[in-house]
Amino acid sequence: MSGRQDLDRLRNELVDQLRAAGVVCSGRVEQALRSVPRHLFAPDIDPEQAYRDKALITKWAADGRPISSASQPRVMAVMLEQLQVHDGQRVLEIGTGTGYNAALLADLVGQTGQVITVDIDDDLVEQARHHLATAHITRVNVVCADGATGWPAGAPYDRIMLTVGAWDIAPAWVNQLTVDGRLVLPLSLRGAQCCVAFQRTGEYLTSVAIAPCGFMPLRGQMTNPQSILPLGDQSGLFLYFEGQRTLDTAALYTALHAPAELLATGIRVSATEVFDGLALWLALHQPDLAQLAAIGPATQRSMVPPLLSCPSNIGTGVLLDEQALAALVRLNQHGDNHDWSTTFELGVRAFGAGGDHLAHQLRAAVHQWHANGRPATAGLRIRAYPPGHPTDEQSVAIIDKHYCRLVLNWPPQPHYHST
Ligand SMILES: C[S@@+](CC[C@H](N)C(=O)[O-])C[C@H]1O[C@@H](n2cnc3c(N)ncnc32)[C@H](O)[C@@H]1O
Repeated sequence: MSGRQDLDRLRNELVDQLRAAGVVCSGRVEQALRSVPRHLFAPDIDPEQAYRDKALITKWAADGRPISSASQPRVMAVMLEQLQVHDGQRVLEIGTGTGYNAALLADLVGQTGQVITVDIDDDLVEQARHHLATAHITRVNVVCADGATGWPAGAPYDRIMLTVGAWDIAPAWVNQLTVDGRLVLPLSLRGAQCCVAFQRTGEYLTSVAIAPCGFMPLRGQMTNPQSILPLGDQSGLFLYFEGQRTLDTAALYTALHAPAELLATGIRVSATEVFDGLALWLALHQPDLAQLAAIGPATQRSMVPPLLSCPSNIGTGVLLDEQALAALVRLNQHGDNHDWSTTFELGVRAFGAGGDHLAHQLRAAVHQWHANGRPATAGLRIRAYPPGHPTDEQSVAIIDKHYCRLVLNWPPQPHYHST
């Protein structure tokens, strides 16, 4: 069991790493991360684990998918930097979870500010209140509600932050912002998820910062319309995609076990480039792209092809038809795949009859991303208009949601990489 001083040291080491990596840039966010004891927000987990840069899962659905956690510190830091909280502000968080991020927000708003945080599950709300009290953090009001409607009683807010994945932008989140307020949320862009910081400009929102992320989806009224199909019986493999498709999941599961054709791409990448660029490019340019994800024990089995697992995320982009699929894989993988910077060659593996055709399509899309200068997520610009808003802007994609029209632009990148 670690003593308090050991835990303080581990916490400071984690913040040092995030600072050195350029994830934490402001003194305010640094101070908040140094002062809030994360281990008090996940008391059932070994306290040393709280100071690794990992999400701590705290609640699961019956099918094994995680539905609550203390999010990964790196991602919290990115979002808090995007949020740019000032002293005395009123902040609404949607997705209380353990209460840890609400505690960071309380530090950022200072003595004169206020934080309201909502969670859809009353057991989580009770636990978060308890964690906050244990950490002696006041000025946080924890309420049980569906965050789809924000929390009108406390509006307007200078800042609204979701720590749970959204497919759409609820009107309440925009309406409850002050006129120049800022909304930060993990937003699904055709299946790729990005933390987007939006500034309100009249009736529309303009992105001011974008980074890749991977949050569990909202439940309740704003449930993500994404389909999630398990493959096999309790295998831990899931397919995620937008819209409806006719798929023979038994045939796809069998195909994943059979010998598969492998196409090399000749392109070397790091996990960072995949997670922070290629994944979004493929989602925007291949609207039929789906995700094959491994959860729990499935991540350990060799049956799962060496998918493009990133340190925080075991899953890969796939093109599918009813009985076949093509998946991005790592080639020549040696050693640790929990490293963001080591490069490896990308390959495409074809599973099932007809998978080779899909594999060629996927490989061509990877080559296109490379030929366009390997755009990274941060270069993307998004405007969110009311639905049906006429637009003659040039765009790489227009994505129509129920409550908004997203217009996306990705200016060309300044330089090209070599393979
Ligand atoms: C990743 S966790 C949030 C982590 C949290 N901010 C922390 O610091 O521990 C996502 C949370 O969103 C909550 N959630 C899901 N749908 C919601 C909704 N419609 N309204 C409010 N909370 C929701 C889940 O219950 C879960 O606790």
